[in-house]
Amino acid sequence: MSDEPAVNAEDVSALDSELLAANVVRAVGVTKTYHLGGEVIRALRGVTLSIKRGEYVSIMGPSGSGKSTFFNMVGGLDKPNDGHVFIDEVDIASLDTFELAWLRCHKIGYIFQTFNLIPVQSALENVMLPMLFAGIPEADAQDKAAGLLNDVGLGHRMLNKPPQLSGGQQQRVAVARALANDPAIILADEPTGNLDVRTGEEIIDILSKLKEEKGVTVITATHDHKMLSASDRVIYVVDGQIDRVQKREDLNITVGTIEEEGHEEK
Ligand SMILES: Nc1ncnc2c1ncn2[C@@H]1O[C@H](COP(=O)(O)OP(=O)(O)OP(=O)(O)O)[C@@H](O)[C@H]1O
Ligand SMILES: [Mg+2]
Repeated sequence: MSDEPAVNAEDVSALDSELLAANVVRAVGVTKTYHLGGEVIRALRGVTLSIKRGEYVSIMGPSGSGKSTFFNMVGGLDKPNDGHVFIDEVDIASLDTFELAWLRCHKIGYIFQTFNLIPVQSALENVMLPMLFAGIPEADAQDKAAGLLNDVGLGHRMLNKPPQLSGGQQQRVAVARALANDPAIILADEPTGNLDVRTGEEIIDILSKLKEEKGVTVITATHDHKMLSASDRVIYVVDGQIDRVQKREDLNITVGTIEEEGHEEK
């Protein structure tokens, strides 16, 4: 028998649920103001929001309401004028350049509306890139990139360059690239914005599976009500502020209603 103190099973499960319940992202009073040719644009006006590990959260809001600005703050791509962003309870403002680069490379996977792929590199090379940045040997990066492209259904096109691929296929490459370093958080800014409904739903399915199977936290921005069904919570943003929050149980009814309304319009 070991000398370790006996751990009560109840204590372990309490600890597990505490860890699971931990906030992976916490924004507190995040404010961002732009000054553009004498005009003051208040893109974010004090956003406070906690997101738990393994949650799938959609940020909804009209164009210009501050969704991308919020993503840039959470992803450490830009700094708020006021307020704080905590990732795993670390204030990212306290990180030095190297630590911030590490966080962006290892913890967060970014999917942008416009894919942001390198056009002169193959799909495979695009997916390998974040792994090479992380110092993974080239042969290992290549194997993993090929596996990820297979997972998103692009195994047969991995040597093609982005301009040779359809929008949906490019977005799959972007999803595979976002997964390269096994991030804990996926930030997807309108990942389906440029896609038809069916391809959009396939991308959402891939993201939902990541959440279910790997416990990845998924944060997406979308305009599209049809894309909300996978969400645990929907945060509605208006004029740089959270307007209301809807939980999954309330959402199913609403999504049905919205879809019905959509059919009536036709
Ligand atoms: N770099 C910038 N300089 C000046 N103003 C900016 C800048 N980036 C964003 N803005 C302004 O901040 C506001 C919020 O923009 P943001 O891109 O966050 O909106 P959004 O909700 O993502 O919109 P969309 O749905 O169209 O993508 C807008 O009024 C926008 O014009
Ligand atoms: Mg945007």
